[in-house]
Amino acid sequence: MEVVIAGSPDEVAQLAAGIVARVVSTTEQPVIGLATGSSPLGAYRSLIDQHRSTGLSFAGASAVTLDEYVGLPYGHPESYRSVIRTEFIDHVDLPVERLHSPDVHATDLAAACDAYDRTVVELGVDVQLLGIGADGHIGFNEPGSSLSSRTRIKTLTDRTRSDNARFFDSIGDVPRHVVTQGLGTITAAAHLVMIATGSGKATPIAAMVEGPVGASCPASVLQFHRHVTVLLDDDAAGELRHGDYYRETYRHKPPWQHL
Ligand code: F6R
Repeated sequence: MEVVIAGSPDEVAQLAAGIVARVVSTTEQPVIGLATGSSPLGAYRSLIDQHRSTGLSFAGASAVTLDEYVGLPYGHPESYRSVIRTEFIDHVDLPVERLHSPDVHATDLAAACDAYDRTVVELGVDVQLLGIGADGHIGFNEPGSSLSSRTRIKTLTDRTRSDNARFFDSIGDVPRHVVTQGLGTITAAAHLVMIATGSGKATPIAAMVEGPVGASCPASVLQFHRHVTVLLDDDAAGELRHGDYYRETYRHKPPWQHL
């Protein structure tokens, strides 16, 4: 796990966008995994800027989303498919038919979850962006999730519903159920990039990076993955025991070694 402590949220966004841009421009038919929530928004803005200013093209790429609310009407502005389109896909040249997301409106939801899991695995995600919840979730794998779980329906914790209430009129409007890629599905991606900024992320980040691996902090499963980059600002790094070491390592990173 490579932990990079950058000075500011803006620098974190630039680094994350740089990783995605590199994959997109050096891979034939790249597959990018997209997260929703606030954490990746700066990276999406930077990628859109690069698309407009340098011609960075997503025309050959496919994208998969991590998760989706169950129970919102089709096309609801807060559905994660809509959010990903509004914040990113509709501003670049990635063909919308190659944006994959779980079918939460299927009559047989369990079968739709299995089908989505197969799609993600068959595509093979080259780089997956992630954010982390206050309770250590990634995707919507809440505490107690099996570390080898696949795409399935999950129930959100009260904490996650109240954290996400800012996107809705009231907490009562936040769906209780979601479909999420499982931890086993997410960790099949070749490169996982965690983006976390702000002091609210300090505790879950310390648990993820330095705590014991276990279902109580689902993100800790990343300790088993062979290629994880954790991009943090100073506040999100605030509770790391080995922060000085991570800073030192990044300062002396060999110039030929990219993120
Ligand atoms: C969203 C997702 C979630 C968020 C997490 C952090 O697709 O997978 O795990 O990344 O809840 O949300 P923000 O970034 O809003 O703090």
